[in-house]
Amino acid sequence: MGAPLNPYLSDRRLLVEPSILSADFTRLGEECRAAMAAGGDALHVDVMDGHFVPNISLGPVICEAAHRAAPDAFLDVHLMCTDPGRWVDPYADAGAGHIQFHVEVMPRPAALVERIRARGMTAGIVLNPDTSASVCADAIPLVDTVMLMSVHPGKSGQQFIASVLSKAPELLSMMRPGQRLMIDGGVSPATAPACREAGISVLIAASAIYGTRDYAAAITAIRG
Ligand code: DX5
Ligand code: ZN
Repeated sequence: MGAPLNPYLSDRRLLVEPSILSADFTRLGEECRAAMAAGGDALHVDVMDGHFVPNISLGPVICEAAHRAAPDAFLDVHLMCTDPGRWVDPYADAGAGHIQFHVEVMPRPAALVERIRARGMTAGIVLNPDTSASVCADAIPLVDTVMLMSVHPGKSGQQFIASVLSKAPELLSMMRPGQRLMIDGGVSPATAPACREAGISVLIAASAIYGTRDYAAAITAIRG
């Protein structure tokens, strides 16, 4: 069996990505498979280094376990890390298909993106809620995706910061067709419509999916 298809490149639909941060880690394999069977288009893997954000979440060993449990799932690794370059090879080895890093630590990421692509992965930049769109001008031409954080990163279950959507028009004006604008944090059936209207085509959600009993209903409602 080959690697999972990259949905950012192969699928023009709106994508919904369950974030395993809110999964039951005592049953991680089952939780990965359940979110994909419920209609998830990829799995979002939130990596926190205890430095870029105060919290520590999971490392390559857990990512690799998710990959083994759900080998058909495309893994989108969100590095909330001060030194993303250090983690390219470990997550490539752990089955990642896409690596996202924060523009706040890497405003001119040409060399990093080249290393990510050399491992057969696509690359994306992420902006924190207080980071302006203009900071991304040098990085956008280099990457496949741009992601708005709609919470301050560090934990799931926080309230959606709607004002970040005002950055979408400026970001989209710098992006070429085929590049994806994503959003992460506080995405739910209630907040997803405004995201879709703003031109976002990949919606990440942790608690709004894993915090419910019916993952398929939550994913369908977020997709709209
Ligand atoms: C935030 C993470 C998010 C988080 C989202 O630090 O990057 O991916 O898991 O959680 P919810 O969807 O519950 O806001
Ligand atoms: Zn994330």
